[in-house]
Order: sequence, then structure tokens, then C-alpha cells
Amino acid sequence: MKKKVAIIGVTGSVGQEFVVSLRDHPWFEVTQIAASERSAGKKYLDAIKDPNSGITNWQVGGNIPDYIKDMTVVSVDDLKVKDLDLVFSSIESEAAKEIEARFAKDVPVISTSSAYRYEDDVPILIPGINDEQADLLDIQKKNRNWKGFVAPLPNCTTTGLAITMKPLYEEYGAKKVLMTSMQAISGAGRAPGVSAMDVTDNIIPYIPKEEQKVRIETAKILGKLKNGKIEPANIKVSCTCTRVPVIDGHTESVFVETSEPIDPKSAKKSYEEYSKNISVAGLPSAPPDYLLVYDDPTRPQPRIEREINDGMTTTIGRLEEETLFDHGIKYMLFSHNKKMGSAKGAVLLAEMLYKKGKI
Ligand SMILES: NC(=O)c1ccc[n+]([C@@H]2O[C@H](COP(=O)([O-])OP(=O)(O)OC[C@H]3O[C@@H](n4cnc5c(N)ncnc54)[C@H](OP(=O)(O)O)[C@@H]3O)[C@@H](O)[C@H]2O)c1
Repeated sequence: MKKKVAIIGVTGSVGQEFVVSLRDHPWFEVTQIAASERSAGKKYLDAIKDPNSGITNWQVGGNIPDYIKDMTVVSVDDLKVKDLDLVFSSIESEAAKEIEARFAKDVPVISTSSAYRYEDDVPILIPGINDEQADLLDIQKKNRNWKGFVAPLPNCTTTGLAITMKPLYEEYGAKKVLMTSMQAISGAGRAPGVSAMDVTDNIIPYIPKEEQKVRIETAKILGKLKNGKIEPANIKVSCTCTRVPVIDGHTESVFVETSEPIDPKSAKKSYEEYSKNISVAGLPSAPPDYLLVYDDPTRPQPRIEREINDGMTTTIGRLEEETLFDHGIKYMLFSHNKKMGSAKGAVLLAEMLYKKGKI
């Protein structure tokens, strides 16, 4: 029998992507959906309509799945937790703090928000990168006397960086990273999101709180779980996060200094080996290629990459030696903020935890 799941924040940018990622899922069935009081009581199709213009605010490619159209959105207070096995949460972090804890008392909560990411008994999980840190969830349950847990994904800008850093950290002792992001508009959410007047024909050179998140999360994800605690990786991360007029998908320019000698050919081989042996291979939402490295210097490009393997592949290009350092490399990466970076990545995380027997 399929696990019964709820989506909280189902009308939002990530919530809409959850609706698509869970359509006809072999293990999970969406049985309840929730959003704020603004949407509660409305049929899903009405809840995603702009109340003033009447425009249907569907932000995902393709049609709205039939299964969701007539489902009624409820308020979080009206979700029936006893009829649920699992919750996917995609709400902003202040509201998430109380709401996610409320549900985690009874069932596992997979979250895209930052509410619990920095707590000692909470791992920040990227399926395929730090699966072993999922054991911290057992400690979290015990600590908090919960039947469930909160398992967050990282910030969507951290995702691509941590995925591409993992082989470089493990094999070449990456010690310093400089990153500049060019982040998509959808990463800022649906309401209020980024104003069209601000971002059209423009680049916004600052995203509040983003850079600190990337610094802390990357070190935690690449760290090791020892004696019930995550020891952050010994890596220094500096970044500049910008918003650009791209709808979906974050592009990042990365410079890495390593302890061991590194060259583009060996780095490419390391990425390909890592991708070939990926732990999540064969799971329903896993892509056939976890990582793809291009020799073509005109890739990655968001308009092209976002279509590759339904946005679940992290793509890398411009892999070149960086002579500023004794040992170093530079590259560009693309990571889809709403697919691998949030909703579909969260579904893949749930699949990984299900396989491990944690759900
Ligand atoms: N956008 C991305 O690419 C991305 C990527 C990774 C992580 N995230 C994180 O994921 C979360 C959701 O982001 P988003 O971009 O989807 O935001 P969004 O488009 O603004 O959607 C927010 C959703 O939360 C609901 N909501 C707001 N307050 C609520 C409350 N008190 N109780 C219940 N539901 C409430 C909203 O419902 P109404 O429609 O009824 O207001 C809406 O469904 C955030 O924590 C964000 O940082 C986003």
C-alpha cells in the first residue's frame, strides 16, 4: 500500500513542483494538501488563481495534474495527522518552525525550509551526497521524544555547490572555495517573490541571508557524523549570491583551491566515477545521470540544462585549471532550484529514507 502524504505550502513555487513530482508516484500518494488561511477551503485550482486578476498562477511547465485540481486546500490546523505517513513541507521558515515540529511529533517531515537546518541533531541531507548523516535522524527522534523527525534539504544555492564539491573534497582535499551565483527568479518564491520591475533587464547583487546559508550548509553537508554529532568539513567557503532574470535554475561560477594536485581531466574522471556509483541509482526520482560534465565551453546554460533529466542532473562546464592557486580548478555549474534543489530533490530524499527504513 502507498504511503499517505500531505503537502504543506502546496500553492507556492515549491509546492506546485511537489504536486508534479508526486503525480503517479509508485510509493507515495498525496491525500491531503494545506497552505495558509488565504487558500484554506478553496479547491486547488481556485487557490492558485490571483484573486484580483483571476490569472491562474501555475509556475511549473506542463499541465496541472488532474488528481489535484479538485482537491480542497485546508489550513494546517485541519490536516488529519492520524491519516498520514509523511509530510512534505514547503513554507517559509518562520512559520515552518512551529508547524514542522507539530507534525514531526507523529510523522516524518521532509522540509525545504531553513527552520531546522542549523540545529545540532538535524542533518541537512542531499540524497546521494551525505546519506550516512541520515542516522542523525534517529538521535533527533530520541532527543525530542518524537515519533517522526524533520529532515531538511539545503538552500537551493548550496545544493549544486555541495554536490560538485563532494568529489573534490574527498579526493583532492578541497580547502577553499569562491563562488558567485546567478540565481533564478523562482528561487524567491511566488508571493510576493521578486518584483518584475526590479529584475527585468537587471541583476540584483544581493540576496538577504543567502551567503551565510551557503557557507554554513556546505561545511555541514560535507562533514562527518561522529559520536552522534556532525563535524563540519574543514573547508572555507566565500560567495556572492545574485538574482538574475532567469525563470528556473541556478548557475554558479566556482573557484576551488585543493591540497592535492588537480587537473581538469582527473576532475572530470572523478565526477564521472562519482555519478556512475551514485547511491540513489534506480530510485523512482533519481536521474540516469547524477552529474554531467561538458567539454563544450558554451555549457551549462539554464535554458538548456533545466530540461535535462527533468532538472535532476547537476551539470558542470568550463572545467579548467586555476593558476591563481598552487593546486586549483574552476568551473561553472547548473542546478535546478525547484527540482533537485527543492521539491523533486525532497521526493528523492524521501525515497532514500524509505529504502533505509527510516520512513
Ligand atoms: N523557491 C525555491 O526555489 C526554493 C528552493 C529551495 C527551498 N525553498 C524554500 O521552500 C520554502 C517555500 O518556498 P516557495 O518559494 O515555494 O515560497 P512561496 O512560493 O512563497 O510559497 C509559500 C507557500 O507557503 C504557504 N504558507 C505561507 N504561510 C503559511 C502558513 N502560516 N501556514 C501554512 N502555509 C503557509 C503559502 O500559502 P498561500 O498560497 O495560501 O499563501 C504557499 O503555499 C521556503 O522556506 C523557501 O526558502 C524554496
